[in-house]
Amino acid sequence: MRTPFEVSACGKVILLGEHAVVYGRPALAVPVCGLRAWVRAEPLPEGSGCWIAALDLPETIRLSTAPPDHPLAMAVRLALAHLGLPEPDLRLTLRSDLPIAGGLGSGASVSAALVRAIFRWAGRPADPEVVSALVYEVEKHHHGTPSGIDNTVIAYERPIRFVRGQPPVLLSIARPFTLVIADSGIPSPTRETVAAVRMGWEREPERYERLFDAIAALVREAEACLAAGRIEDLGPLLDANHQLLQELGVSSHHLDHLVRIAREAGALGAKLTGGGRGGNLIALVRPEQATSVAHALQAAGARAIYRTEIPATSPADPSSTR
Ligand code: MEV
Repeated sequence: MRTPFEVSACGKVILLGEHAVVYGRPALAVPVCGLRAWVRAEPLPEGSGCWIAALDLPETIRLSTAPPDHPLAMAVRLALAHLGLPEPDLRLTLRSDLPIAGGLGSGASVSAALVRAIFRWAGRPADPEVVSALVYEVEKHHHGTPSGIDNTVIAYERPIRFVRGQPPVLLSIARPFTLVIADSGIPSPTRETVAAVRMGWEREPERYERLFDAIAALVREAEACLAAGRIEDLGPLLDANHQLLQELGVSSHHLDHLVRIAREAGALGAKLTGGGRGGNLIALVRPEQATSVAHALQAAGARAIYRTEIPATSPADPSSTR
């Protein structure tokens, strides 16, 4: 029998551009490499079938009897179908550092880790483009009309500029920067916030299109700041994006309060990230201010707080395509 192994997939934050990205505008996203979903794969005796155990839920399902739309089963089935393989004799045990419905890509990360486990078990390389496409199928089923940004940044595990329907462009980041990520403690199901924005857009298309265009302009400015290493100039762009997200109706009093606290504690800029209404916010900080910003957020009621460094990159570096 083969030996057990473990694979994982990262979380993500959207720097700027969420929601507008569903409507064809660009968005910038970065992987959060320190927060991950993990899958341990253990071969089982012949005839046992494939079992998926999700430790955090907790839930154990058998692949052959799970409902067709079960998200975990769907990721595994799509990977098997892509490889032309029958149900394996395998136990897949899943655990995740990522909050469910927290705007950090938990669903896409779990699917990506499952897809990678099946590819690894089959001895086949898990090409990011293929992983992204398979995870997108699961996302579509469970999130309505996803843009595809979550599956893309998680599968490539690189900072990207994303436009719906186009291959991702790897971001050029001239200077590393630090983010504090804070969980508002309120779940934020993406399907609901995306549906709420769609209702608003159907009611007032011109106003919403103007807001999306304003967000796209911030994204373009932010991309130039990152490429030039002007990290301080990124802060006000995050603040402006948060204000536009407020106008889209996807913030909340609690998120607005936490964003204000982060700025007062010295953050260069702060905004909600992901679907909004709850979930997480990001605060751009000078490294020496990370601790005081984190403490202020905690005192104001934020739940989990996490600090991440986004390293400098260059799309000219061929290693940055994988
Ligand atoms: C979710 O991480 C980002 C949204 O823009 C939805 C999407 O792009 O699919 C809110």
